[in-house]
Amino acid sequence: MKLTRTISETRSHIKIRKGKTRSLGFVPTMGALHDGHISLVKRSLEENEITVVSIFVNPTQFNEEQDFKSYPRNLEKDLEILGRYPVDLVFAPSSGEIYPEPNTRKFDFGGLDSIMEGKHRPGHFNGVAQVVSRLLGIIEPDNAYFGEKDFQQLVIIRKLAEKMDLPVRITGCPIIRESDGLAISSRNKFLSPEERKSAVRISRSLFNAQKKAGKLPVEELKEQTIQYVNKDPRLKVEYFEIVDVRHLKPVRNWTGKSCKIGCIAVKIGNIRLIDNMNFYS
Ligand code: PAF
Repeated sequence: MKLTRTISETRSHIKIRKGKTRSLGFVPTMGALHDGHISLVKRSLEENEITVVSIFVNPTQFNEEQDFKSYPRNLEKDLEILGRYPVDLVFAPSSGEIYPEPNTRKFDFGGLDSIMEGKHRPGHFNGVAQVVSRLLGIIEPDNAYFGEKDFQQLVIIRKLAEKMDLPVRITGCPIIRESDGLAISSRNKFLSPEERKSAVRISRSLFNAQKKAGKLPVEELKEQTIQYVNKDPRLKVEYFEIVDVRHLKPVRNWTGKSCKIGCIAVKIGNIRLIDNMNFYS
């Protein structure tokens, strides 16, 4: 497994390894690797001859300086984890390498970025699009893998690839959960033992709502779900929306044919966790 820090050494290594025919899978990450990331790496290894993983904590997608500063970073540990798999290359650039000039690029996602996460984290998806477009331009993968936990991000990245005509297939990989159902996230490690116990309510609320989908009016189901989570004084729902999986348009009733997904964001103290689940009605 090779570690590169600059774009030029990354490109020349890929050129040699890829040749003309080998398929390249890419897993972009911000490090602090957990089983969710590893599921993306495994999928890439299954579907491609070469796998590249990037580790870069992207400053432009954070809303708060403090959140960026305290984001967990441990390159040595991440390399140790990735070393257990036949990953070809880990690209861990500096900020100056990715943004040699201040990145002022603005993207238009036709409203996909103004609801849910976008509403509560203004500018977040623009920052994600800045870094993902830059990374895809450097690595030029055939396939790129993203977790479905960040479902809105996945939809927006698909849109980005489509709008920019990028010759890459974007693959979403299922959420990986702890044994009690909590979606695995780099932020889980910040929870106190009591908060960790409370956090199980988030996925439980979605499993309950999934069972009731189609049986209760949408608004009533939303209300019940929010109340169930907020019943624990440690938890505060930021939003819970039921939207269609393609355009993220809010679902008003169950009659539409489109696939539906329930997306939730919850604050526990200063920690913000998100989760989602498909609803079949
Ligand atoms: O999902 C993430 O970890 C990040 O948003 C990504 C896609 C690596 C871009 O920084």
